[in-house]
Amino acid sequence: MRKSGWRSLLASALALLVTRSNAQTLNSVLSGESTLSTYYSLIQKYPDILASLPSSGATVLAPNNDAFVRNDQFEKNTPDFISSVLQYHMLDAKVLAGDLVAGAPVFTGTLLSSWTNITGGLRVEFVKQAGNVVSLVGGQGSRSTLVKGDLPFTGGVVQIIDSLLVPPGNITITAQEYNFTSFEGALYAADVLDTDLTTPNLTIFAPQNAAWQALGSAITSMSSSDLAKIMKFHTLSDQVVYSTSFTNNTVFTTVEGGKLTISRTGNNAIFINSAQLLAPDIMIGNGVLHVIDNVLNPSSSGTPVESLATQMPVFASASSVTNLPFTSNIPTPTTTTPVSTRTGKGALATTSVKSSSSKALAAAMARETGFAAGFMVALGGAAILI
Ligand SMILES: *[C@@H]1O[C@H](CO)[C@@H](O)[C@H](O)[C@H]1NC(C)=O
Ligand SMILES: *[C@@H]1O[C@H](CO)[C@@H](O)[C@H](O)[C@H]1NC(C)=O
Ligand SMILES: *[C@@H]1O[C@H](CO)[C@@H](O)[C@H](O)[C@H]1NC(C)=O
Ligand SMILES: *[C@@H]1O[C@H](CO)[C@@H](O)[C@H](O)[C@H]1NC(C)=O
Ligand SMILES: *[C@@H]1O[C@H](CO)[C@@H](O)[C@H](O)[C@H]1NC(C)=O
Repeated sequence: MRKSGWRSLLASALALLVTRSNAQTLNSVLSGESTLSTYYSLIQKYPDILASLPSSGATVLAPNNDAFVRNDQFEKNTPDFISSVLQYHMLDAKVLAGDLVAGAPVFTGTLLSSWTNITGGLRVEFVKQAGNVVSLVGGQGSRSTLVKGDLPFTGGVVQIIDSLLVPPGNITITAQEYNFTSFEGALYAADVLDTDLTTPNLTIFAPQNAAWQALGSAITSMSSSDLAKIMKFHTLSDQVVYSTSFTNNTVFTTVEGGKLTISRTGNNAIFINSAQLLAPDIMIGNGVLHVIDNVLNPSSSGTPVESLATQMPVFASASSVTNLPFTSNIPTPTTTTPVSTRTGKGALATTSVKSSSSKALAAAMARETGFAAGFMVALGGAAILI
């Protein structure tokens, strides 16, 4: 055998030895970080979760002690609820913060498989932001910031984060939290809600309230079945498409049967037929939802005009109204707090909130971490709150 062959073999053997001796067990990594003492004692009560981590590569999102101080009632929830949230923080692939690229968010599957109808489990999104900041985005507007990254253990990596993430909820609770009132009402009016709640693997385009207001009676006077066609034209089945797949000129076939074409401009604006994408990638229990600025019409695809702040309606006889269409179709009025209004990729601002017993601050904290009463109910757990 040639010398170089032996040399490289020796080098790999040595590399393996070095890796072996450096790699620590997950236990030793967690116990060795003083900021993780709360998490460490909590996770030990759920040995099944640790045992279910894939050996092929895993990421543990470990909330630091501050995260539990902000959510000091969290541990009073039911064990089932706590276990689900902890599983949502365990990812089925090794994601290194050092590998993330700005403008290319990464969606990784979690070990939370109950309440889900999405292939590969509910996802967590990693977003690399300006200044080397990494945000983690969960469901229902929850997000956290990476405070210490890429701590290796045998079989994966630990990422220390500063807030708890909330698993994605169903389409109605998500619509309520983001204040997509007319969209939610239209789901009821068109009688498509049951399908949208239970069909796995959906991608849904949700027009913002102003888009429905711009149409007025052109949309509200439609029959339920005509409205259902419109709603199905906003839905892709059997594919969970994140904005990272919205490449220029991609065509998607909708549940209605008509096609949606993605167009991208030089300024990085993204259009779906004649609607501009406003807020991408809001994760829901059975897929993903993208907010757009116009209601799409299968009979009239329209042409996006980049210079317009809001695209022109593509329905004949559109006449704008001030009230919100379809709100009366929503059965039980619920009081909700909008959580986050993401207006684009860079808009994941984090507010740091200090611990306090004041009600207003408590509410602000709940928004920051997502664990408000509504969210607890949303997750089907006993609502124990700040
Ligand atoms: C998942 O989808 C099935 C239909 O495929 C449905 O019966 C079930 O209710 C859904 N589960 C959840 C949690 O949405
Ligand atoms: C929801 O949106 C509507 C109109 O778009 C607005 O009037 C209303 O104040 C919003 N609600 C909240 C709680 O922000
Ligand atoms: C979800 O979509 C994937 C393909 O993306 C497919 O393999 C899987 O069977 C789908 N799941 C269900 C339950 O339809
Ligand atoms: C997208 O495709 C269209 C038409 O094919 C082209 O005019 C446009 O420049 C492309 N956009 C980008 C950002 O390349
Ligand atoms: C959506 O989820 C919430 C919380 O679990 C639940 O209360 C609500 O009934 C669900 N929506 C529908 C329409 O089933």
